Amino acid sequence: MRILVTGGAGYIGCHTCVVLAERGHQIVIADNFVNSSPLVLQRLGRLTQKVIASHRVDLRDHEALNTLFSTYRFDAVVHFAALKAVGESCERPLDYYENNVCGSIALLQAMVRAKVRRIVFSSSATVYGDPQQVPLDEAAAVQPCNPYGRTKAMIEQLIGDLCASDPMFTAACLRYFNPVGAHPSGLIGEDPSGIPNNLMPYICQVAVGRREQLRIFGNDYPTADGTGVRDYLHVLDLARAHADALEYLADTGRNLTVNLGTGQGISVLQLLRAFEQACGREIPYEIVERRPGDVATIYADPTLAASTLGWRTELDLDAMCRDAWNWQMSNPDGYRALERVRRIPA
Ligand code: NAD
Ligand code: WQD
Repeated sequence: MRILVTGGAGYIGCHTCVVLAERGHQIVIADNFVNSSPLVLQRLGRLTQKVIASHRVDLRDHEALNTLFSTYRFDAVVHFAALKAVGESCERPLDYYENNVCGSIALLQAMVRAKVRRIVFSSSATVYGDPQQVPLDEAAAVQPCNPYGRTKAMIEQLIGDLCASDPMFTAACLRYFNPVGAHPSGLIGEDPSGIPNNLMPYICQVAVGRREQLRIFGNDYPTADGTGVRDYLHVLDLARAHADALEYLADTGRNLTVNLGTGQGISVLQLLRAFEQACGREIPYEIVERRPGDVATIYADPTLAASTLGWRTELDLDAMCRDAWNWQMSNPDGYRALERVRRIPA
């Protein structure tokens, strides 16, 4: 298939491009690089041994989208492009609704015009908010508790409405739990700008000496060791699910909304200890106040992904930590170091 990957230069997008290329698909990336570096594209070229077409496009730019859809005849779209920081979404809600929701509407309109009727959408476990019970299956109530989560729920709805209006239009909404890790080559990985919001990149930056110590947000949760419990999954397992979802849509013509996680809850302290094993050094930490908006425990019931897509995670917590550390060690300053090298005059 020829696939448009929006947000393909980002963390999950670039890993998915590798998997899609390995399965023989042709990829075109559209990204405005608001949260990524064009230097990822060189790395993708090295990894895939293919030239991956890429266009600097903001999804809200209808003209640019129309040009893209008239330049290529796409069979499907994998839609990652979004802003994703929960805290920032509370401070700048309109920017989040505009970027994520309006960007998605513009994309869907361009798809409808070009008669491209297959989409895989990056949704999030965050649509469940503070769950009533775990593990969470897809029948659990959708009640996001921050603007970022509400953009995801809205986009799921508008995709659902579009599918209802046109039976030829098929969609898979993938609700990711907590993706971590990196490609084992160490060539691509997570490279947050500024202070990382998420646990794994923060631990990586402490381990590599960029930050002094981890702050653990609360050890008084009703969990085994008092720290928050999440469902971490390897980004390559997650990437594989996108290729599986595309094949599912093509083969069955059915729509799907599905959780993607391991089904196993891991606490902050468990993740920290596994990471220490992987990197062979101690990670200093202090316990601080709970982070507002955090829930105690959330993990997936991934049964539906197995029965529909035949998808299960294959990589364990040790592999997640090993690959995250390998990426961080090989690229202590992320892609920025490459940018600096590029700026040095010859
Ligand atoms: P990321 O920020 O690394 O990647 C998103 C990419 O989209 C970036 O390259 C960014 O430059 C691009 N982008 C943003 N707005 C754009 C726009 N208007 N036009 C064009 N490009 C734009 O994030 P990620 O971690 O790779 O996440 C990918 C998707 O998965 C997002 O939709 C995110 O909400 C979702 N998701 C992520 C997680 C997670 O923990 N990382 C969990 C659940 C869901
Ligand atoms: C995990 C655990 C923290 C950082 C967020 C978004 C969610 C999704 C994934 C996109 C929690 C603790 C964290 C730190 C800590 N993204 N922690 N110290 O909160 O499950 O999910 O990212 O869709 O929408 O909400 O992930 O990695 O931020 O936190 O103690 O410096 O680590 O309290 O228990 P979270 P996280």
